[in-house]
Amino acid sequence: MKSNPMKLFLWLLLLISDVLAFRTEKPVGERAVELMKQAPLIDGHNDLPLQLRILYQNRLSKINLKILNTTFTNIQKLQSGHVGAQFWSVYVLCSAQNKDAVRLTLEQIDVVKRMCQIYPELELVNTSQGIADSKKIACLIGIEGGHSIDSSLATLRMYYDLGVRYMSLTHTCNTPWAESSSKQVHNFYPNVNGLSSFGKEVVMEMNRLGMMIDLSHTSDSTARMALRISRAPVIFSHSSAFSVCNHSRNVPDDILQSLKRNNGIVMVTFYKKVLACGREVVNVATVADHFDHIKKIAGSKSIGIGGDYDGVDQFPEGLEDVSKYPALIEELLRRGWTERELSGVLRENFLRVFREVEKVRNDSRSVNENEKEIPQREVQNSCRLDLRNPPLLPSDELPISFGTPSVGQTLCLMFISVIYIILH
Ligand SMILES: *[C@@H]1O[C@H](CO)[C@@H](O)[C@H](O)[C@H]1NC(C)=O
Ligand SMILES: *[C@@H]1O[C@H](CO)[C@@H](O)[C@H](O)[C@H]1NC(C)=O
Ligand SMILES: *[C@@H]1O[C@H](CO)[C@@H](O)[C@H](O)[C@H]1NC(C)=O
Ligand SMILES: *[C@@H]1O[C@H](CO)[C@@H](O)[C@H](O)[C@H]1NC(C)=O
Ligand SMILES: [Zn+2]
Repeated sequence: MKSNPMKLFLWLLLLISDVLAFRTEKPVGERAVELMKQAPLIDGHNDLPLQLRILYQNRLSKINLKILNTTFTNIQKLQSGHVGAQFWSVYVLCSAQNKDAVRLTLEQIDVVKRMCQIYPELELVNTSQGIADSKKIACLIGIEGGHSIDSSLATLRMYYDLGVRYMSLTHTCNTPWAESSSKQVHNFYPNVNGLSSFGKEVVMEMNRLGMMIDLSHTSDSTARMALRISRAPVIFSHSSAFSVCNHSRNVPDDILQSLKRNNGIVMVTFYKKVLACGREVVNVATVADHFDHIKKIAGSKSIGIGGDYDGVDQFPEGLEDVSKYPALIEELLRRGWTERELSGVLRENFLRVFREVEKVRNDSRSVNENEKEIPQREVQNSCRLDLRNPPLLPSDELPISFGTPSVGQTLCLMFISVIYIILH
């Protein structure tokens, strides 16, 4: 065969330019950052508001959130981490159930609203379009634990009006209407299995309102029932894969498959304990193993990120605070995840879920508010007044009474009388 020197030369040139192109391809770290600039992260769960309560009694005037260094989260770190939207959890402890959970939740909503108003880097939004349009760090509000509604659909609706856009059906305690995945932490309502019939009403009312149903912390049977009845996609705002680490907080494969059919997402969480399962080293690769597994079972479109910073205090090496998200994206690029898959993980998958939830809300416009009440026998406790047959007055008091005067009132009256007598 006659060889053509010109062709050979061109071929060599091409080969050399290919090799050069490969050499000059951007380092994977740079590619991760570029990708995150185009597709800033929407993170599903951050508990900074809980730390603001515990450390500073919600006194925002005493701290500078830009540089706060007693927490895993501050504004500078969120910016370095390329966080474009954050769901702030307005979590109150399960020990507040049947006590002041509603007041405490309102106070946490108040602190999130104030913080997102005070700082020009933050902006409160309440729609998918609001996230998409925001040039700042968009703030959203999520309730963590159904105990926050005190078994009341009216309270749920008022939270929606205050801007709450997801609610985890339980935290680590059962409510009268939903079972938690934690069994040994609290002993509220031990006989509840999955969702009660009132629990199903809660799910349906959330669909109607356009509030996302979060199944992190719920038992598997609660999650399966919610997936069966929800008309909208659901989320796990901060959970990982049970097959990789069999912690009760994680999602088993059959639920991942249902989640795929439901079009929902699991926002993979970074809590060391639910990732580790006895591994000595827990690092970015450990988290990436959870991503790879969920992708294998449910596809990359069923995945997001919910770091849970400031909700727990142990994180993998390389993911120590909210500035470190790019390290994870870098690892996933290295493992062959495409940029399209990753912009889904960072942002688009969540936006899809939120839009579908809003569409279900729009399609429910003709449906009235649900006026059902939980049966009294399911919520009997001393903090609950039965208002169907109310004792309007304490039985042993006169109809008009302002109570027994205090010592102070008596002294005050005597003082005024003496002055009156002296002056006259
Ligand atoms: C944390 O912040 C405080 C007050 O802004 C500052 O005095 C302190 O040096 C900081 N600590 C660290 C470890 O950066
Ligand atoms: C949603 O946000 C918009 C824009 O900030 C605001 O006008 C509206 O009142 C909010 N609605 C609810 C229900 O929070
Ligand atoms: C997890 O796996 C370990 C070892 O196989 C087993 O002992 C443990 O009971 C499992 N835990 C759960 C929650 O399934
Ligand atoms: C829902 O309705 C609102 C108000 O009419 C509209 O702005 C929004 O685009 C609708 N969303 C979807 C997903 O249909
Ligand atoms: Zn949690």
